[in-house]
Amino acid sequence: MIDTRDKILEIAPESLDVAAIRQDFPILDEFENGQKVAYLDNGASSQRPEQVINAMLEYYHKYNANIHRGVYRWSEEATRGYEGAHRKVARFINAYTPREVIFTRNTTESLNLVAYSWGRANIREGDEIVSTVIEHHSNLVPWQVLATEKNAGLRFIPMTKDGQLDLTDLDTIVNEKTKLVTFSHMSNVLGTISPVAAIVKRAKEVGAVVVIDGAQSAPHMPVDVQALGCDFYAFSGHKMLGPTGIGVLWGRRELLEAMPPFITGGDMIRDVTLARSTWNDLPWKFEGGTPSIAEGIGLGAAVDYLTKLGMDKVRQHEIELTAYALEQMAGIPDLTIYGPTDARTRGGIISFNLGDVHPHDLATMLDRDAIAIRAGHHCCQPLIELLEATATTRASFYIYNTPEEVDRLVAALYKARKIFHLD
Ligand code: ALA
Repeated sequence: MIDTRDKILEIAPESLDVAAIRQDFPILDEFENGQKVAYLDNGASSQRPEQVINAMLEYYHKYNANIHRGVYRWSEEATRGYEGAHRKVARFINAYTPREVIFTRNTTESLNLVAYSWGRANIREGDEIVSTVIEHHSNLVPWQVLATEKNAGLRFIPMTKDGQLDLTDLDTIVNEKTKLVTFSHMSNVLGTISPVAAIVKRAKEVGAVVVIDGAQSAPHMPVDVQALGCDFYAFSGHKMLGPTGIGVLWGRRELLEAMPPFITGGDMIRDVTLARSTWNDLPWKFEGGTPSIAEGIGLGAAVDYLTKLGMDKVRQHEIELTAYALEQMAGIPDLTIYGPTDARTRGGIISFNLGDVHPHDLATMLDRDAIAIRAGHHCCQPLIELLEATATTRASFYIYNTPEEVDRLVAALYKARKIFHLD
């Protein structure tokens, strides 16, 4: 093994205080098979710090009530907490106004909201929707369904051999017929960071709306929706230290104002007669029914936590850790690593295969060494097929992961080579 850890730490005196961060995550002190768990499945879901858990507990212990309904203190406090979380998220992604921040269940629901509401109102027969070949099913299936329903075309930006989006034919793929362009900001399999500026520029030349799946980017790098120039941006709370059951759709106010509602019923209305209804102001127009109140408050606490750390530092930490992991893993015989080779152009996600060992067998073996990683198609079957694999094993990092955990992963992979007789 090459020891590059010192070199890497030298470049980044401003890095995160990982030891202090780990104190906030008691789950990371859990033991399995005599060892602390190395949690390397953050692409699937992150852990939550005590600050997030406590914010939710405090709501349940001290002021649990529905929002926007009561005039008593608990309800008013719950309303303040839930609405305050929208403001925190708006600042976190530099939205023009908190009215543009809609809380959903997760990224999937956010993307479906755009497909159902904007898509059904604006896509017509013969129009084209452009996506990419590296998308998660959540940013593919809603567009397939919409295109089929509307008899619209669906085109894809291809991928280069090293897992970058191939923009060679972008001007043909995105053309006068294109009404919507959608892509993931960061691939959940390859870690690839998409060339947002070039795609947005072309989309805007033809007047198309741009939807970005930020499920993997919002938790791991600074995001400024105004600078990105997109029209919609979707992400989940549970991948960024928040609870499950809460996600975000950011959209440009003028588009959201013009869109029909998605989920109808309570709280999203202004006036209702037996014959018809009018809609509430943004964002409540898109938040029908009692929302996930504790989860919204928990997401607000997660945003506070990440903001205090600084998203630049979060990104820097992951570049360092990924660079270190890529260097260490490069030396392992029979290991195929997918995606870009430069840690500065990718996120902290590394998909790999060890010889012809099935990823599920490898993940099960690593679990015996208390290393938690994901194996499978990662909800990206078309991409896995392009990689000419049936599945991959994936390690994904976050703020609390350490070079020592990378060392454990690397040592376990050497051990796996022996156990699976690749030596
Ligand atoms: N989308 C999540 C992942 O990539 C579940 O693991």
